[in-house]
Amino acid sequence: MSILITLEGGDGSGKSTQSRLLSTALLGRGYNVTSLREPGGTNLGENLREILNDGQRHHAGLTDMSQLYLFLAARAQLVAERISPVLIEPNNVIICDRYIDSTVAYQGYGFGFDINFIKQANSNAIGDFVPNLTILIDCPIETSIARTISRTGKVSRFETKPNDFHQRVRNGFIELANENHDRWKIVDGTLDEKTLSKQILSLALEVIKGSDTNLQ
Ligand code: TMP
Repeated sequence: MSILITLEGGDGSGKSTQSRLLSTALLGRGYNVTSLREPGGTNLGENLREILNDGQRHHAGLTDMSQLYLFLAARAQLVAERISPVLIEPNNVIICDRYIDSTVAYQGYGFGFDINFIKQANSNAIGDFVPNLTILIDCPIETSIARTISRTGKVSRFETKPNDFHQRVRNGFIELANENHDRWKIVDGTLDEKTLSKQILSLALEVIKGSDTNLQ
């Protein structure tokens, strides 16, 4: 058996940094780690990521509905090309920076698309490849917005949304986490990077070691 761990959270929650730190820590302990991100991880996914993040230039007019289907298409491709081939082999760990729950939180809670529809579409896209552990890096939106503003480089389509959008996304993630305490663990995204990475590593190791695998 292999393990799929996903990290979720709002923009500026520190999720991508923590995904990297977790991958490095597990690699350092000798695990076979595959690091992925959504949207991305395949040629199609990386192309769709460019389109989805480009809210200011060529793809400013992309509708909310089109975005929803593009995220799902990127996911279906990621599962087919990168997730299922790894998870059907034994003793692997996949760390995925965002996955099914981002679509429920952003397109469902954020944009108002039907939550059950999204959950069903997610299920169609991923089949049996449900995460063994999902870590929510929860952060007050004031903190996460301040972090995205202080970042240099490109600003994504979603980072420029108003505060109430980000608040709905945050609440959505918390609601999802509370629906399934077996799969989800919530960590405090305001903690310093090192403390948070230790907590996340210990949550990951707990699931890896408690699983029916030869992973030690
Ligand atoms: P990032 O924060 O990992 O770079 O993700 C890119 C943006 O895409 C981020 O603002 C969240 C958004 N997103 C969705 O709206 N729905 C999704 O299903 C995914 C995976 C990401």
